[in-house]
Amino acid sequence: MMLDTRILLTGIGSYLPKNKVSNEDLSKFIDTSDEWITKRTGIKYRHFVSENEFTSDMGTKAANNAILDAGINAEDIDIIIVATTTPDNTFPSTASKIQQNIKCNAISFDIQAVCAGFVYAISIGTSMLRDGYGEKCLVIGADSMSKILDWKDRSTSVLFGDGAGAIILEKHKVSNYLRDGIQWGILGSKIFTDGQYHDLLMTSGGVSANKKAGYIKMNGKEIFRHAVEKLSSSLVMCLEECKLKINNLDWVIPHQANQRILSAVANKVGLDENKIISTISNHGNTSAASIPLALDYSIKNGEINKGNILAFQAIGGGLSWGSMILKFGKPPAFEK
Ligand code: ACO
Repeated sequence: MMLDTRILLTGIGSYLPKNKVSNEDLSKFIDTSDEWITKRTGIKYRHFVSENEFTSDMGTKAANNAILDAGINAEDIDIIIVATTTPDNTFPSTASKIQQNIKCNAISFDIQAVCAGFVYAISIGTSMLRDGYGEKCLVIGADSMSKILDWKDRSTSVLFGDGAGAIILEKHKVSNYLRDGIQWGILGSKIFTDGQYHDLLMTSGGVSANKKAGYIKMNGKEIFRHAVEKLSSSLVMCLEECKLKINNLDWVIPHQANQRILSAVANKVGLDENKIISTISNHGNTSAASIPLALDYSIKNGEINKGNILAFQAIGGGLSWGSMILKFGKPPAFEK
């Protein structure tokens, strides 16, 4: 029997803060309306952390759920990568706090690619597992965006929410199971950065700039344009790298920024819009957490199943963006 070393996505978990805030709730303290937000973005609700709830708290809960789902023990984890823009502290990493919370000795670090962070983090984790840094990697996307919102800027503050999602990546030798001609696990990823656009989406502060975290500032129209173009082109490139066609994809789980961006990308790449997972209306834009939150929700909802071919795609400040394709779960031989 032919055996291949594959990086498999074997577990998923998520967490949303209890405080669910509607568009009507926002309209009580800023000049906005449910109609404007819904029409422009598709967002109806978002969740906000409480003052004493931190990114590491949400990340820990999501991580514990993913560990349970994968059927592994925390001490088996070799690498923890946390994608976040809103770490608990400037240093040490939020990943090192989560390492202590879940109790393991994994190599632990944060990465910063804003809303594209989760796709970046999976790409890094996959490379590290392939390069021999271990057998199991916990990848977390967690953000408390509410803590960097400027409530005087109504065009940006209504878009974001808080949450966390986590997955387990495992390196396994699996039989070359090619019933549909497509291997299991991570099939390919394409990630990009173009710093000439760094000021289209940024915070008004930073440690070395003014010793403050700052608030989100965004050129919404330009971000919209770049998002449609770059999410589409990176998905097409990733499909080519994987030698797949758009019709091979069972589901696309995009970064949940704006329903109109998702529809425009589907239209541009010739994707059936029914294959796009959208949790925008209930979650808002949770930055690095949005893909794993949407993934977990749609698995629990019975939409995504093991063996499905999935594409993740995201764009955020930097600009940073990328797409990746994988076959979800473990081959049948693994199931007990
Ligand atoms: N409520 C009511 N009215 C508002 C609000 C609000 N919350 N915000 C802005 N307006 C008003 C504006 O003042 C303006 O009024 P005016 O015509 O009297 O001047 C009008 O609505 C139109 O404003 P625009 O900014 O032109 O609205 P637009 O149609 O561009 O929509 C939006 C703005 C929703 C931000 C859009 O540009 C967008 O979705 N961009 C993508 C940004 C995004 O998703 N970013 C997420 C982070 S990056 C990422 O994750 C991809």
